[in-house]
Amino acid sequence: MKLLITGGCGFIGSNFIHYILKKYSNYEIVNLDALTYAGNLENLKELENDSRYEFIKGDITDEKLVNKLVKKSDIIVHFAAESHVDRSILSSGDFIKTNINGTHILLEAVKSASRRNGNKRFHHISTDEVFGSLKPKSPAFNENTPYDPRSPYSASKAASDHLVRAYFHTYDLPITISNCSNNYGRYQFPEKLIPLFVTNLIEGKKIPVYGDGGNIRDWLHVEDHCRAIDEIIHNGKIGETYCVGGNSEKTNMEITRAILKIMGKKNREIEYIKDRPGHDRRYAIDFSKIKKELGWEPKISFEDGMRETVEWYKNNKKWWRSIKSGKYQEYYKEQYGSPE
Ligand code: NAD
Ligand code: DAU
Repeated sequence: MKLLITGGCGFIGSNFIHYILKKYSNYEIVNLDALTYAGNLENLKELENDSRYEFIKGDITDEKLVNKLVKKSDIIVHFAAESHVDRSILSSGDFIKTNINGTHILLEAVKSASRRNGNKRFHHISTDEVFGSLKPKSPAFNENTPYDPRSPYSASKAASDHLVRAYFHTYDLPITISNCSNNYGRYQFPEKLIPLFVTNLIEGKKIPVYGDGGNIRDWLHVEDHCRAIDEIIHNGKIGETYCVGGNSEKTNMEITRAILKIMGKKNREIEYIKDRPGHDRRYAIDFSKIKKELGWEPKISFEDGMRETVEWYKNNKKWWRSIKSGKYQEYYKEQYGSPE
């Protein structure tokens, strides 16, 4: 089986490549990644000499390259995206280009390659943020929840989901979509809540909580997410969407306190700062469809997953220090005022 992975040098994509090559000895993977600020070859260093793995530096908006790679693959798993909400608020052009135009170019390539040499399965990785913000007592998002994206990031992901579904209805393209909640684990870029707070605490810096810290997210260990994608690309029904969640709704203050406790730090490390504009209050996922149809459910408890994740960042300082000391400083300054 030949898999084309887009965005495989990012957080979830790199975890997925490790997961697949460990589980399936006869699978081959081509990883197409533009190496934006979020892409990191270090995440896949152990695979450099693995003959089943090939890295291609390139952009998903490069039509010629995408056509060539899609032709040679059986399954395409599309992770590549601009993924950070705060960056989409500062500047959204790249979100439109990659998340919408890039997905469109991939769909066109799958459409023309499928005509010539059989169907190519296309799996689109999406997010629960396309559904908008839940009230405290509202039922969790499921596959029938109407779309209501509220940030430039989630709007661009919503547009890409609609395109993928339109290509199924119009051209019979063999697609599946998954909408997942917040992931955490190794190789997550330290701009996101959990790795930012853990690495700031190791560095002796404050941890910046937006607003009152009462916003709720559902948290899923990245390995559980990889297992869900594995199930969907092999056994998921063509044309279907699957909501994937961790059964672990937490306020940002609960996350913050859990990190402080694991790291033996005090509440005085917290700095309450100006809220994110348009900050969605609550996300929650009802994953009963994927549980019933594919037998998937999360296995890693938040407590175990968090302890393991904190350990990973403590043991891999070189990985995140090289990110934090580089160009990332410019973004950090723009987002949080001062780097120190
Ligand atoms: P990430 O930002 O860590 O990685 C994105 C990767 O895509 C990087 O390697 C980057 O170099 C690459 N990329 C960006 N633009 C590209 C382009 N034009 N061409 C080729 N490669 C490009 O992202 P992530 O957190 O791993 O998220 C992966 C996917 O999962 C995204 O589609 C995101 O919307 C979705 N998602 C993420 C989460 C989460 O909690 N992180 C949750 C649900 C869904
Ligand atoms: O829900 C899935 C989404 O989860 C994915 O689609 C996105 O790609 C991913 O980035 C993530 O989006 P969030 O905006 O929820 O993640 P982030 O880690 O940026 O923020 C999580 C929560 O923590 C959110 O309520 C904002 C808050 N926060 C975040 C940062 C970076 C803070 O309070 N302080 C911070 O410094």
